[in-house]
Amino acid sequence: MAQLYLQSDIEEIARGIEDIRDKLEGRTILFSGGGGFLGRYFSLVIDHLNRSALATPCKLIMLDNLITATAENDGQAGTEGVSFMEHDIIEPLTVDERLDYVVHAAGIASPYYYRAYPLKTLDVGITGTRNMLEIARENGARFMFFSSSEIYGDPEPQHVPTQESYMGRVSCQGPRACYDESKRVGETLCSIYHAMHGLSTNIVRPFNVYGPGMKENDYRVLSNFGSRIKGGRPLKVYGDGRQTRTFCYVTDAMIGFMRLMILGVPGETYNIGNPEPEVSMLELVQHVEAVVDRDMETHLIEYPDSYPGGEPTRRCPDIRKARIHLGYEPQVPLRAGLKRFFDWAMDIYTGNP
Ligand SMILES: NC(=O)c1ccc[n+]([C@@H]2O[C@H](COP(=O)([O-])OP(=O)(O)OC[C@H]3O[C@@H](n4cnc5c(N)ncnc54)[C@H](O)[C@@H]3O)[C@@H](O)[C@H]2O)c1
Repeated sequence: MAQLYLQSDIEEIARGIEDIRDKLEGRTILFSGGGGFLGRYFSLVIDHLNRSALATPCKLIMLDNLITATAENDGQAGTEGVSFMEHDIIEPLTVDERLDYVVHAAGIASPYYYRAYPLKTLDVGITGTRNMLEIARENGARFMFFSSSEIYGDPEPQHVPTQESYMGRVSCQGPRACYDESKRVGETLCSIYHAMHGLSTNIVRPFNVYGPGMKENDYRVLSNFGSRIKGGRPLKVYGDGRQTRTFCYVTDAMIGFMRLMILGVPGETYNIGNPEPEVSMLELVQHVEAVVDRDMETHLIEYPDSYPGGEPTRRCPDIRKARIHLGYEPQVPLRAGLKRFFDWAMDIYTGNP
């Protein structure tokens, strides 16, 4: 069976944290959302480091209630130092191990799914974050919360690229509110635990991460394009196609996340993404066509009921803070990342999710 990831990507991520990997020697990490797209990469990188570089292995305890994870994503079978626990983090949890890091990445991240599960989306960002913060507090562990670039809402043009200090222009009632507001309250909780309990918290706001391992039925734009190309079906672009995004290949994003987990300045929030290039959805189609070497029939369509409208017009990160504090610098150009992703997707997607 084809792999759900590229081994060369895992090695690339490991090289990107070579200078700080000793900070993981003998450490224990609790990670919520371990069955998801990014959770899988964390487990593969820790497994790789345990086999190749660390004298005392790092332990990674993964939690997931599998609400959006697929079966093949759960057990992470055979990974060195990685264990998996099925648990809904809305419920409190006691962990017997002494923890050094708590990473809270559980969430209902895909617009299609948060439209389907709005209350669970709120709960995991609010009650789930509180429960994970409590565990970190009991252990005096460093805490990292996966927020989202969505908390910026629809910034005015003068705030694009968007800095961490931008406060956001977000609807508290719109079709995306359950996700955006849950992440915003999650951030508030982190800042309270930092101020009240002196907990070492960091917040990361990822900007559209993509790569091998994205589920075909995830309904995010690139997995959607991958599936439709494989199935020989026209591409569908919502709205007028002029909304812009930036795309960060998963190796760059993972290096940023891991550097942040280890080096983040306590109490600070960081954008992680690739600011170049900022492309409209119609320009993205052109890049994809070049990469798959095919002209695709493309339809502009109204937002379907299953997908939340009210999309931000532009989305592009200012990453100067991550550059300075973390030594973060994305390396994979858009075309090169798309090539890695679509080569993989054409191999593994069915075209009929
Ligand atoms: N991938 C991106 O581009 C991106 C961008 C912005 C923010 N994020 C955030 O980063 C985090 C990880 O992203 P991802 O792409 O791996 O998402 P993902 O959807 O692939 O994984 C999230 C995992 O959380 C699990 N989960 C949801 N509710 C849970 C609960 N109550 N208890 C336990 N597990 C639960 C799901 O089953 C899923 O496996 C998410 O919180 C997401 O909101 C990701």
